[in-house]
Amino acid sequence: MTGCDQAKSNTQTVSKPVQIARYDSGTSTVDVSAYQVRVRWWYHRFFSSKCSKCHTAARPLNAPYRSKEDWAEIIARMASKEGASMTEEEAKSIEKFLIYDAKKRKSGE
Ligand code: HEC
Repeated sequence: MTGCDQAKSNTQTVSKPVQIARYDSGTSTVDVSAYQVRVRWWYHRFFSSKCSKCHTAARPLNAPYRSKEDWAEIIARMASKEGASMTEEEAKSIEKFLIYDAKKRKSGE
């Protein structure tokens, strides 16, 4: 079993704080050089600044979420936290980045 499969199969059995600590210990940057230009823009301009204020960008980057529904829910929750200061447009751009990134990197498409 690879480390990645193991992390997935453990998801059901470990507590939320333990899961989150695992996301946090992973990479906090993505090599977006092969991504579409607009996706690179969303990453650099919005994701990198807005999603690394309270925790590092490692948290979303290593979290298992992939679908639009999952990310919409997470981003809405983050945007509602005190100090998040995110406009609707910024939240949308971040959502599009995270969906694209999940396809490219997490699913290897
Ligand atoms: C104002 C502080 C703040 C900002 C800004 C913020 N987060 Fe969070 N984030 C938190 C806190 C606190 C938690 C743990 C509590 C929770 O999950 O609501 C968390 C947890 C998370 C989790 C784990 C949630 C889970 O249930 O697995 C993800 C993924 C995440 N954040 C993504 C993001 C993304 C993407 C952004 C940018 C849109 C972002 N965060 C911006 C404070 C923040």
